[in-house]
Amino acid sequence: MAEPSQPQTVETKAAAAPVQSSPPAASTKDSPDKPTRRGFFKWLTGGWVAFTTGVGMMKILTVRFLYPNVLFVPPSSFKAGYPAEYQIGQVDQRFKEKFGVWIVRNEEGFYALSTTCTHLGCQPNWLEAEQKFKCPCHGSGFYVTGINFEGPAPRPLERYRIMLADDGQILVDKSKKYQFELGQWKDAEALLRV
Ligand code: FES
Repeated sequence: MAEPSQPQTVETKAAAAPVQSSPPAASTKDSPDKPTRRGFFKWLTGGWVAFTTGVGMMKILTVRFLYPNVLFVPPSSFKAGYPAEYQIGQVDQRFKEKFGVWIVRNEEGFYALSTTCTHLGCQPNWLEAEQKFKCPCHGSGFYVTGINFEGPAPRPLERYRIMLADDGQILVDKSKKYQFELGQWKDAEALLRV
């Protein structure tokens, strides 16, 4: 009697064969390591922006170098209109803010008074009712002539050179000043006689 045959394990070819990995499918995305056209254009655009920004900054710096900060100050001389515009006894305040000058007309003529207090340099106010200049800082007072009479101001207000310009207008020259205590108010150009 024949012996029953031993069960045999059947190994399939597929199981026996080593598993071969299929080659990777070609990627549809750009590899990060590989330069691409898009990356190149990004880089080019960024470079161009950086370049134009740099050029712009250089232009600004050049202009700042050629035209540095300048403190603009009013000119030292100015025209103050025609004598007929002024009345005797009037303290004209039109040029106080811009030029720091009061122009006063009296019986003798015109004089240009500095609006700088001789104490510590504040700017007094003209008080028409009291006919005096009064300094708001420490209370110094000055007559219409500019002579000090109260408060700590040690000396009168200063006057500036005043004359007639070629066109007949009053011309004030702040580059030349006259001090009462030095006897300079007697100088011909400290008073414009018209
Ligand atoms: S600054 Fe005018 S009184 Fe002192």
